[in-house]
Amino acid sequence: MQRFQINSYPEYEKAYKRSIEDPEGFWDEIASSFVWKKKWTKTLEWDFTKPEVKWFQGGQLNITENCLDRHLEKRGNQTALIFEPNSPNEPSQYFTYKALHSKVCEFANVLKANHVKKGDRVCIYMPMVPELAIAVLACARIGAVHSVVFAGFSSTALSARINDASCKLLLTADGGFRGDKITPLKAIADEALKSCPSIEKTIVLKRTDSDITMEANQVWWHDEIKKVDDYCPAEVMDAEDMLFILYTSGSTGKPKGMVHTCGGYMVYTAYTFRNVFQYRSDKNVTLGREATRAGKHDVYWCTADIGWITGHSYIVYGPLANGATTLMFEGVPSYPDYGRFWEICEKHKVNQFYTAPTAIRALAKHPVSLVEKYDLKHLKVLGTVGEPINEEAWNWYNDHIGNGKCPIVDTWWQTETGGIMISSLAGVTSDKATFATLPMPGIQPVLLDENGEEIESNPAEGILAIKYPWPSLARTIYGDHERYRNVYFSAYKGKYFPGDGALRDESGNYRITGRVDDVVIVSGHNLGTAPIENAINEHEAVVESAVVGYPHDIKGNALYAYVILYDGFEASDDLLQSIKQKVADTIGPIAKPDKIQITAGLPKTRSGKIMRRILRKIASKDTSNLGDTSTLLNPEVVNSIIENSL
Ligand code: PRX
Repeated sequence: MQRFQINSYPEYEKAYKRSIEDPEGFWDEIASSFVWKKKWTKTLEWDFTKPEVKWFQGGQLNITENCLDRHLEKRGNQTALIFEPNSPNEPSQYFTYKALHSKVCEFANVLKANHVKKGDRVCIYMPMVPELAIAVLACARIGAVHSVVFAGFSSTALSARINDASCKLLLTADGGFRGDKITPLKAIADEALKSCPSIEKTIVLKRTDSDITMEANQVWWHDEIKKVDDYCPAEVMDAEDMLFILYTSGSTGKPKGMVHTCGGYMVYTAYTFRNVFQYRSDKNVTLGREATRAGKHDVYWCTADIGWITGHSYIVYGPLANGATTLMFEGVPSYPDYGRFWEICEKHKVNQFYTAPTAIRALAKHPVSLVEKYDLKHLKVLGTVGEPINEEAWNWYNDHIGNGKCPIVDTWWQTETGGIMISSLAGVTSDKATFATLPMPGIQPVLLDENGEEIESNPAEGILAIKYPWPSLARTIYGDHERYRNVYFSAYKGKYFPGDGALRDESGNYRITGRVDDVVIVSGHNLGTAPIENAINEHEAVVESAVVGYPHDIKGNALYAYVILYDGFEASDDLLQSIKQKVADTIGPIAKPDKIQITAGLPKTRSGKIMRRILRKIASKDTSNLGDTSTLLNPEVVNSIIENSL
């Protein structure tokens, strides 16, 4: 029988081998450890040309029974969810499994009372408060499809997403706290609702006590829960029924509503959570490079927002399916100061901490005394996600946060993949700075050359593709299967194409080199912008950079670098020369940027990714149509970059 928990490198090797030789047998056994209302009859049916992927057909389940009900007997009084509010002066909240179960059932009954049925789409536009997690699970309880829209998005972005999925109900709040600001969620939602005919009702949570007006068909959360009880049987769902839609940006303007289904998503997110983070709920476990901790269950914290896939899979579903204690944080890393993350780690004795490289780089800019003030001895595992992590940031994370003792899991995956695809397993397989390392059991990555041929030797560099299905792959783009086929399955026949490039070292460790669409051809040489950025970022004066191509008369394309400097460095000619030299020394003179613009900020998506599309346009002096910049984290930075462009 395949063990759920992988405890050692030989166990990883064995599980991986089995998962390739007998994928169906492997996943059958992993899936058997969950609660199913009816066992599946066909483990896998797939065809990447259609494309069609179905897991556990004939199986019936409800994911919330696996995340909540099944833990009640053994760990009903254990904390399932810790809520850390934006303000450090507001008390934390703790929900036991029993309490969370009852809140979820209660709100599920509210949804039912408001005429939401299985299959209806519910849009959730809420701040990072416990009710957001409760709303997500309540939808799943009754088989409604949740579509969470990140609470930082504009009204235009919100209405586009509501309309794309024809959502019937909207869940929102009067406002949301973020640092010293309040986001007027209700006002933004009302603006969006002017063009959302499918919404029949809006339920509003009181969070900031902002002065808002309630329109017809808008009701208060606290009034609605008074009308219902907390008994709600779980809807019977087929394994391939839709669980949620989550939007991700595409290379064209229209967001793609990635569709995830119940059975495979549950199995894969739970399995990867347990093994990547080596989450333990038993006592006296020794883990990590040297770390030991005799205690109860671990406390796990992922700093992502539930508005993103990381929050779906690794704040809510994966941890709860494992009976874990998961922490959610309402605020931002800079409020009330840049020590907040570490204060929270100390306060809740966090054992596993999972964040993004962009946050690490921002925090590393500030004095290390803000870290040293806090006791981080409970940390056993550190994680990163969302973009390649540069060596400098990795070292800072390792030295100052992990104290050299915590394995760092660099987890490569996507909204589309549902769960972690390539990563080390903390303390079980080796980490390696800037490398995501090895595939999860069940994941069959390949590197392809420019002709789409598989490169089998090591070391190698090429286009990353996946040649076999795994349970949590998104099944389609909501309402547009043809686009799904085109974007992910048409570039390389019979393979899933994630859009990233990678290299593989002698030992088979993968390093993600960045989006393959960020390659610039300069004088006939293929140059990835990511390695050039890494080189620039290694310069002692540089915080962060973004490199794009722009048209050049002789070279075809030339490179334009946008660079943020640390406080205390001046943009002198000498400094610019030394940055160019750093690139020449690291990659070669061909990779030297022709232009370097010093800037105070870079345009970023809410998930922290640099919007290179905008930078490319500015570098090309084509600022006429920059697209919708309102969904950026920092839209104001765009004008200043245009004004100072070279
Ligand atoms: O380019 C890869 C990058 O983020 C993309 C997926 O973005 P999204 O769907 O927003 O999901 C982010 C959270 C899972 C990938 O195609 N990416 C994600 N993780 C890593 C990464 N790049 C390098 N290293 C990673 N660990």
